[in-house]
Amino acid sequence: MSTPTPENTFYVTTPIYYVNDKPHLGHVYTTMVADVVARYHRLRGDDTFFLTGVDEHAAKVSDKAAEHGLSPQAWADQNAAAFRGTFGKLEMTNDDFVRTSSDRHKRKVTEYVSALLKSGDVYEGEYVGWYDAGQEEYVPENKAKETDYKSPVNGKPLVKKAEKNYFFRLSAYVDDLLAFYEHRDQAGKGYVQPEARKNEIVNRIKEAKDVPISRTGSGGWGIPVPGDEEQTIYVWIDALFNYLTYVDDDDRRHYWESGATHFIAKDILWFHAAIWPALQMALAKCEGYEWVWGEGVQQSQLVYSHSYWVSDSGEKMSKTLGNFLDPAAIDNYVDEFGLDALRYFLATRGPLGTTDSAFSPDLFVEVYNNDLANTFGNSASRVSNMIGRYFDGSCPASSSGETREFPGVINAYQTSMQAISLWAAVIGHAMEAVGSVDSYIEQTQPFKLAKDPANLPEVGTILYNCAEALRIASVLLWPFIPDKCEAFWSRIGFGHYAEQLKGNGRGDLEAWVKWGQLKPGTPIEKGEALFPRYQVEKK
Ligand code: MSP
Repeated sequence: MSTPTPENTFYVTTPIYYVNDKPHLGHVYTTMVADVVARYHRLRGDDTFFLTGVDEHAAKVSDKAAEHGLSPQAWADQNAAAFRGTFGKLEMTNDDFVRTSSDRHKRKVTEYVSALLKSGDVYEGEYVGWYDAGQEEYVPENKAKETDYKSPVNGKPLVKKAEKNYFFRLSAYVDDLLAFYEHRDQAGKGYVQPEARKNEIVNRIKEAKDVPISRTGSGGWGIPVPGDEEQTIYVWIDALFNYLTYVDDDDRRHYWESGATHFIAKDILWFHAAIWPALQMALAKCEGYEWVWGEGVQQSQLVYSHSYWVSDSGEKMSKTLGNFLDPAAIDNYVDEFGLDALRYFLATRGPLGTTDSAFSPDLFVEVYNNDLANTFGNSASRVSNMIGRYFDGSCPASSSGETREFPGVINAYQTSMQAISLWAAVIGHAMEAVGSVDSYIEQTQPFKLAKDPANLPEVGTILYNCAEALRIASVLLWPFIPDKCEAFWSRIGFGHYAEQLKGNGRGDLEAWVKWGQLKPGTPIEKGEALFPRYQVEKK
């Protein structure tokens, strides 16, 4: 095995989702994007680790549990199973599944916070704020001002209250954070992606104050502050550490050291863009944790912050608004169009950039027909039908022996995938290889040539070229539409690709996209249409 380096090791994560309720399309989306990227890296042969999971110690989880008359743990168990079930059904290839109530996570977080208490970056202080006695919670200064320092719920005056709290010394890391951002910008690989999101964060970092990281009155739901059983570690600090707790052992630490790619949405950017790297810097100053902020991390870790799926009326899909696609609605799409169609739609039409995307059922059908049925699906059927008709289903040989590599397409695809431009990788590049098959068929007209048996060698060359180009395109498309690509591979004698990739195995993209691997004489199965056209009912 080769030595791990940031170049051939890849660690990708998603947010860990609150288990106050079941998953919805927003959660599925981020995990799907991470899955496409993880599959791409495995396809390249990279040693890849993909982590997703759930965040359990939130007050809203214990509140919801109480509403249902269950213990927080029982409620969390139920919803964690729902998340795991949904991700499993959607064939996400995560290598582990975080639960923050797991012993592993709790033990490690306790160790990290103990180290930070010892170094002084976590310290005991006093939190002073506006307290709403009826709600038993603090109201932030700006909210309190809006309601004239009265409870937004019962209108009674808020009281100024002070309580003991533990703080993280974020203010001590302002200069280091700014230097880190600067360093990454100079190296041309910004820590926060897309770039447009960076400025607001940098301005906020300049003003950063120490942050409270504990709370009281959680009823024992949470990880206790080491040495102070009265207080629990604030859920966000507990949660951010998941990226580390699940890879902090001898077998997995090299993933961390290669620099994680964290996928999140814009709602939680501040925590990831400021608090998270500062926590790493602080921990790395503690004995035995120097590796936490090593070279690979400083050069390669990044936070990719996408936008929102919104409903047709432009509102963010969320549990509270109840306007989301829930697991049942997601299942309906999978039943009707197939899992790959959903994957493809989310990955190519989702809010990966800085604008929100509306989930429109009409657009879904249009994309399905135009991008999948009419292109890859249609070309695969045409080519295998012609091989069936003119060559008795046996792959013809190329009589010219010409080589038709696609170096431009492949390099551009790789560059786009590395830059997480999923739309460009597929539509701009992988589908270009498919499109070239269609235009080549139109130009060469094999179905006309085949009317004269003397032309069969030429028809054979054309069809060989078509099938080989489709095989190469299918390798590039695999991270997006794995099931259909694997079905196609098994029809053309390349079932071993799927075997090799099974169980999160590694492929060999560079070798697999080399021209001329399809073996003449191989039986080519026609099979059913990969993406049958979807007939839209006329209104
Ligand atoms: N538990 C925290 C995250 C801790 S990470 C250390 C949390 N959980 S959450 O359940 O609210 O999930 C938020 C994430 O879900 C977003 O950052 C995003 O990845 C995903 N999405 C939730 N709704 C979404 C949309 N409407 N659109 C796109 N993504 C959305 O925050």
